[in-house]
Amino acid sequence: MTVPLFDTKTPLAPLRDALNAKAAEVLEAGRYILGPEVAAFERELAERLGAPHLLGVANGTDALVLALRALGVGPGDDVVVPSFTFYASAEAIAVIGANPVFCDVDPEHFCVTADTVRAALTPNTKVVMVVHLFGNIAPVDEIAALGVPVLEDAAQAIGSRTADGRHAGALSVAGTFSFFPSKNLGAFGDGGAIATADAALAEQLAMLRFHGSRDKVSFELVGHNSRLDELQAALLRLELPHLDAWCDGRRAAAAHYADAGLGELAGLPVPVAGCDPAWHLYVIRHPRAEELGAALSAGGIGNKGYYRRPLHRQAAMRPWSDVELPGTDEAAHTHLAIPMSPVLTREQAGEVVAAVRNADLD
Ligand SMILES: Cc1ncc(COP(=O)(O)O)c(C=O)c1O
Repeated sequence: MTVPLFDTKTPLAPLRDALNAKAAEVLEAGRYILGPEVAAFERELAERLGAPHLLGVANGTDALVLALRALGVGPGDDVVVPSFTFYASAEAIAVIGANPVFCDVDPEHFCVTADTVRAALTPNTKVVMVVHLFGNIAPVDEIAALGVPVLEDAAQAIGSRTADGRHAGALSVAGTFSFFPSKNLGAFGDGGAIATADAALAEQLAMLRFHGSRDKVSFELVGHNSRLDELQAALLRLELPHLDAWCDGRRAAAAHYADAGLGELAGLPVPVAGCDPAWHLYVIRHPRAEELGAALSAGGIGNKGYYRRPLHRQAAMRPWSDVELPGTDEAAHTHLAIPMSPVLTREQAGEVVAAVRNADLD
């Protein structure tokens, strides 16, 4: 039996007819930019997250760029960011002329901690960008207590909750999301959003995504053209009521892995204290992760080492690479994503665990 790393198609199959009908309806209506579907999606997602304001934008990378700018980050400012994340987290800082200051992660749960952030703070730190990696939730409250505004990159964590029922991406002054097709809530193209509790910030963001204008007549800021489009919003609205069930499917898949004895063979994903992750990626730890990945691939089991070369070791980040991050280096070496989806069955999990056992790398 082969088991793919993702399965985006099966969960959407029951919605296929409704999605097709909705797409036809939007094309027929002929309203494509900032129309009623975007406004309704923004309201519905904001309500679900418990976020007072939410704005759709073109993708999760732009969401970070706009949020940083709205928070007042500009050339020469420092922004603390983990090195163990997708490139976009740091790229969004560098592209506006600010400095990514790379901080370490805990190699057990792959997120930043208050200690790793504290060690990276400088007198010029304007914002701390935490990344809720793989669906885990970084300890936002502890980090916010350090006294610097926290921006949450929740691209991988929509649907993850804290123990007291709050939502990833709505725990700080602003949080960003990606609707890249493989994400927990995936569009049929690019899409993103920014949630915020701050009305003034929301007003700023609404202008920044629209050429720095309120009406396309007067231009108050040098902005961007970065909108979630009407078609994506309409389709995402049909998916949104299913997000909780899909996230529960991901939690059930994690339980299947544990029940099948994966924990005897590799380090299971560790939730950050006090959080209930909707695992976007199911990332195990193994001292010989790359060899394990090769053995799984040979047996038809999807797998991937996402961040083998962390950001402080990437060519474009050379100006900010003079930093020692032992936790990051360990995570880069030991992590391996194995199949995860809302519909991963007990049998499939058993198959994956058998393949890990047969790899016999202990
Ligand atoms: C942690 C993280 N941040 C930001 C992004 C950027 O999102 P997008 O691809 O929608 O621009 C991603 C997407 O892969 C991500 O995983």
